[in-house]
Amino acid sequence: MVQLPHIPPYKTKVVEPVYFRSRQERQAKIEEVHYNLFNLHSDWVIVDLMTDSGTGAMSEYQWSEIMLGDESYAGSESYFKLIRSVQDIMGFEYVAPTHQGRAAENILFSTVVNSGDVIPGNAHFDTTKGHIEFRKAHAIDCTVQKAYNTEDTFPFKGNLDQEKLEKVIIEYGREKIPFINITVTCNTVGGQPVSLQNIKDTCSLAKKYDIPVYMDIARYAENAYFIKTREKLYTDWSIQAIITEMFKDVDVVWMSAKKDGLVNIGGFIALRDAALYEKLGQFTIIYEGFLTYGGMSGRAMGALAVGLKEGIEYDYLHDRIKQVQYLGSKLKEYGIPIQEPIGGHALYIDAAKMLPQIPITQYPAQVLGVEAYIEGGVRGVEIGTLLADRDPKTGKDRSAKLELLRLALPRRVYSMPHMDYVAATIARVNDRKEEIKKGFKIKRQAEILRHFTVELERA
Ligand SMILES: Cc1ncc(COP(=O)(O)O)c(C=O)c1O
Repeated sequence: MVQLPHIPPYKTKVVEPVYFRSRQERQAKIEEVHYNLFNLHSDWVIVDLMTDSGTGAMSEYQWSEIMLGDESYAGSESYFKLIRSVQDIMGFEYVAPTHQGRAAENILFSTVVNSGDVIPGNAHFDTTKGHIEFRKAHAIDCTVQKAYNTEDTFPFKGNLDQEKLEKVIIEYGREKIPFINITVTCNTVGGQPVSLQNIKDTCSLAKKYDIPVYMDIARYAENAYFIKTREKLYTDWSIQAIITEMFKDVDVVWMSAKKDGLVNIGGFIALRDAALYEKLGQFTIIYEGFLTYGGMSGRAMGALAVGLKEGIEYDYLHDRIKQVQYLGSKLKEYGIPIQEPIGGHALYIDAAKMLPQIPITQYPAQVLGVEAYIEGGVRGVEIGTLLADRDPKTGKDRSAKLELLRLALPRRVYSMPHMDYVAATIARVNDRKEEIKKGFKIKRQAEILRHFTVELERA
């Protein structure tokens, strides 16, 4: 019998046009913007894989919440819809909305992190690390070593190494550790999941030393899907049951809802402890807005209340991960070196392996990003030496652990033919890679976070 192919669990109602320019036009444009992909206007991009954050498409139910939005300053119905959604799905009683993930970090860390503190975790996301270091505290990476070998196919490369973690706890002592931080999935090591067993082990270790566990849950639903499909014990569990188990012993979660919340803006902190919630409230009011909107509009909270529910539906998650895996397997068919196993929200191409003739000092991942843009109008983002920036003491480039071009997939936006197009674009760059002889040198750069505004020229 003919097998029915996979199709997405949605159909299109509104379309956004894509503009096609010629290769020559793109070549001139990228030169004009000093080879910085952040400087391109989006209508000059054909397939935009710069980020999966805030770039997803909302459903008709979410759009109807935009119309229903209650914009009252205090106690709006949209706020209560959001609170009920978080309580139902995640089981935390107290919820503080924020305008996005880093705003949640700002509030949370203003409340519990002090100078000299140590926060162990699995490869903290850069804004998380930034907020910790800004308070003169230290983020200590306890991710399993396998995470740093792109060829290792271990299914849970986001896991925390329990030995490393216990060593840190013993070395610094409970008083210096306000919480242990688990990030699901672990963006920094390639959208790699954390197993439920590892979450349980981390929570038991934390309990032994009486340390709270906080979780960064930007991509918690994708993590739950990976637990269901990769961790034998949980194959028959529903996504909701896995989420309940993931959060059972966790004290606080915070979320950039621009990912698995399926919205373009939004975030929140959710917790069990009334006293801590009251303390957070002071910072919510001075940094974000009143407690019942935290920097979000009523309509945005309504859309998030619905997005959270849609984001944990099995059919949606299956389609989402299938698309990422499809692009990954196409790239592999073309012989492109990618980070394995394929993670949840993005593909990472090993640019140093693909373009070995370009020295690290000439930014090979940026070279690959620019070539992919010229070849097919595909926009990714450099995760390498440009992003790693300079050592503040010496002013010299810090060398990155890996030179990667990240292709992050917006949710419910592109179809499989787009994935074929992206893979073919990268394959065409691969076919002519010997002709790419030189990389870039820096013409102008900002004091910090240089990758956003850097101006480059051919080396
Ligand atoms: C794991 C993780 N945590 C926190 C953040 C910060 O969230 P936002 O961009 O909404 O401020 C991000 C954003 O990409 C993230 O991936």
